[in-house]
Amino acid sequence: MGINRRGFLGAVAAGGAVLGVVGGGNRVLAEAGPGGLTVRGDEFLLDGEPFRILAGEMHYFRTHPDQWRDRLDRMRALGLNTVDTYVAWNFHEPRRGEVDFSGWRDVVRFVETAAEAGLKVTVRPGPYICAEWDFGGLPAWLLADRTMPLRCDEPPYRELVDEWFGTLLPKLTPLQATRGGPIIAFQVENEYGSYGDDLAHLEHLRNTLRGNGIDSLLYCSNGPSEWMLRGGNLPDELATVNFSGDPTEPFAALRRYQPRGPLWCTEYWDGWFDHWGEQHNTTDPAETAANIDRMLAAGASVSLYMAVGGTNFEWWAGANHDDAKDRYQPTVTSYDYDAPIGEAGELTEKFHRIREVIGRHEPLPDVPLPARPPRLAPQTAQPIGSVGLLDSLDVLSKPVRRTTPVHMEALGQPHGLIHYRTEIRGPRETAGVRVEGLADRALVFADGTPLGTLDRNDPKGSVQVPVPGDSVRLDLLVDTGGRINYGHRLADAKGVTDRVLHGSQALFGWEIRPLPLDDLSPLRFRPGAAPAGPAFHRATLRIADPADGFLALPGWEKGLVWLNGFLLGRYWNLGPQRTLHAPSPLWRKGDNDVVVLELHTPGRTIELRSDPDLG
Ligand code: GLA
Repeated sequence: MGINRRGFLGAVAAGGAVLGVVGGGNRVLAEAGPGGLTVRGDEFLLDGEPFRILAGEMHYFRTHPDQWRDRLDRMRALGLNTVDTYVAWNFHEPRRGEVDFSGWRDVVRFVETAAEAGLKVTVRPGPYICAEWDFGGLPAWLLADRTMPLRCDEPPYRELVDEWFGTLLPKLTPLQATRGGPIIAFQVENEYGSYGDDLAHLEHLRNTLRGNGIDSLLYCSNGPSEWMLRGGNLPDELATVNFSGDPTEPFAALRRYQPRGPLWCTEYWDGWFDHWGEQHNTTDPAETAANIDRMLAAGASVSLYMAVGGTNFEWWAGANHDDAKDRYQPTVTSYDYDAPIGEAGELTEKFHRIREVIGRHEPLPDVPLPARPPRLAPQTAQPIGSVGLLDSLDVLSKPVRRTTPVHMEALGQPHGLIHYRTEIRGPRETAGVRVEGLADRALVFADGTPLGTLDRNDPKGSVQVPVPGDSVRLDLLVDTGGRINYGHRLADAKGVTDRVLHGSQALFGWEIRPLPLDDLSPLRFRPGAAPAGPAFHRATLRIADPADGFLALPGWEKGLVWLNGFLLGRYWNLGPQRTLHAPSPLWRKGDNDVVVLELHTPGRTIELRSDPDLG
């Protein structure tokens, strides 16, 4: 991959452009014992028989658990024999020591469900996973101390990773194919060569996997450039490549680096993700299928990234940083990815094209193609009550006092918005308020009146704040996008990391309120006209039977939507995404409670639609 992830094409072009002379001929791959997935020459064996991995990526954390089986069945119907998933550390341990493997977080059940659907499993436990997922899967609390080393063999990071792996891996160990289970392989780190070259780090991760009983095949997956392959591989484990487009050159690069061993494209990007304010990315179904055909004709194994994209529910969307333009690029809420199986389970044209190609090379399962999951009928609702956010601070959180503003992770807050308040003593000259170290936007208020918005992508921007009298109460409501998940700006702490200035004077003495917004029940909605500025709005949608639906907010600007207390994610009128996926299990028969936090200007209606609009 190129460093620049502004868009799909940039990424593709960079992927193949850097190849030169390679001399990797002395790599020797370990050929393991008879059980599970092993390597013999240029092929895989599963329990001693030749096996081609036809995998599709699906992240259990991006699909409601009640829909796991449905999506896995669709993957099987596509002709795949394996599901590939990451494990997102931050999804399981959002706060230090609070580890959760229940319900939506029951990764063991996901693996077992895959086996029931007739699929093998490959697991990518990271701990760094990239994946357009907040902080690349690393827990926000790693940023409490901003000097924490990341993705290298430095003790504090290593020790925390060891602790996490010591909890996670024993759950997966019994599920390995070497012991009769469905898991056939584990990835070490994730595209490490795109980031660093610390072999000791990769070696340590490998030893931690082995030390916790992982005796399956291990692999390192990387972009197909020499520097990535050199930096991101363990010399004696299987190397694989990730790419989009024509497989010829990426596989040639892999062959130059690793002359023997199975060819495996561990991420074939059959679609791509979107950023707010940019265009919606899609790929041509026929071309995508033709490239998969080329891989299969070459005898290669492939993992489709993604088979089922899913959704960046809650606060989980990640972000990129465009180094060339020095721009922060937050990822949208949908992770449909233009994958063959859509966000609401629909089988797309790409599904049928890919299935046809797979059928030319491998037997397709003799199962009927699943029908499209039912959709809700359209309807429109109007808010029946609202309440201002600044008026609700006391019921939503407790303030802490600090001399200087601090970022949310330093206060133990994993996600949400964060509010900063101070007094500016006057009378004095009007001057601009500016934030140094802002992530990601700050709504600025003087004595409760909205004066403007500061944006991380305009670091010199300021909002003029007059102080004609004795004092002005300055409020900054910091709105956050996802944490960067790729590249060297990974340590993307949220809120204010540095200082707030009025003119050239730093402001001290802050009252800070974390707003994780995990529980909205204390809000006191009132009927009548909505208050000015950021406010919560409530509406009711009555439905006969739960099914998948899509919420649209025409005329609204930017904010968050909860359905029956569950945060569906962020919306933003910048697009490209226009509707939020609201899956069937989140609805109930009868009245459903919708709460919208609009940060700027509310629209009049909330629409429930039957079809998505991703731009
Ligand atoms: C890389 C990463 C994935 C994902 C894709 C882009 O290859 O390994 O986690 O970020 O790019 O979607």
